[in-house]
Amino acid sequence: VEGERLIGEQYTRMALVYEERVVPRFLPIARRTVDLAGLREGERALDVGCGTGLATLLAAQAVGPRGEVVGVDFAEGQLGIAEGKRRLQRVEQARFARADATRLASSAEFDAALSNLGVPPDFAACFAGMRRALRPHGRLSVVEWAAGSMEPWDTFAVAVERHRVADPGPELAALRQAVGGRRAQFERIGTEAGMRDALEHAGFRQVQARVEERAAPFRGWRDAYDFCTAWGSREAEVRAMTGPEREALHAELREAWGDGPFTLPWRLVHGTAQA
Ligand SMILES: C[S@@+](CC[C@H](N)C(=O)[O-])C[C@H]1O[C@@H](n2cnc3c(N)ncnc32)[C@H](O)[C@@H]1O
Repeated sequence: VEGERLIGEQYTRMALVYEERVVPRFLPIARRTVDLAGLREGERALDVGCGTGLATLLAAQAVGPRGEVVGVDFAEGQLGIAEGKRRLQRVEQARFARADATRLASSAEFDAALSNLGVPPDFAACFAGMRRALRPHGRLSVVEWAAGSMEPWDTFAVAVERHRVADPGPELAALRQAVGGRRAQFERIGTEAGMRDALEHAGFRQVQARVEERAAPFRGWRDAYDFCTAWGSREAEVRAMTGPEREALHAELREAWGDGPFTLPWRLVHGTAQA
């Protein structure tokens, strides 16, 4: 719980950077997630771990002015940006609220519940809450990273581990610990079978899971580096390094990724189900 609070603080701290560097890359994934929710005009939808409102605002278009979409997240900084975008785009049918995805309080209120890469490590609690939030026959659409496809994180993580400071302060040490535990938990829903099991376990019916590949283009190593460091834990690692350590990290990533354009074969697990 303590670790998750730290993660939430990082998402708040990095919200603007996240919006600039990550959201454009997640747009095609969010479109797919919202499509798979099969939203119709006038419906009510819940977007869990909504961040800066990417999927919330797409869903709001789908349900139209007579519908409603509620985006929830525990990082206030993300919600602030989401609300700013909502107002600029004059989307009356969306609203944002602070909530922990592992303790969703809604009950049988929504026609659809979705999450675009916003499910927390305690996915069991989250899925159970999403099911409770749905009306009978309400639809679920969630997506997470497929196990073993966490490029560019892997290349980046391995390089960072080689060059990171040996003696982190208490804050960075706590952050390392918080991030470390998350990965194994996510890998449990990172396969079609794992995703299906988790949704069935939460009481969903007509569960389907499919891994989809989505090539992510980068302009060069620096572009991928900027994407990776949009997450607070990685930004903190890089910031703690000495000049020469950081130079060595840059050189290694440049060697791995090159100066020119390249694509990474992202793979995602989409889960759909009915309450
Ligand atoms: C990778 S971002 C995805 C954001 C957004 N759905 C998108 O597509 O851009 C993950 C989001 O989940 C949120 N999150 C993680 N754990 C959470 C929890 N337990 N409760 C609420 N939000 C959580 C984070 O604050 C972050 O905004």
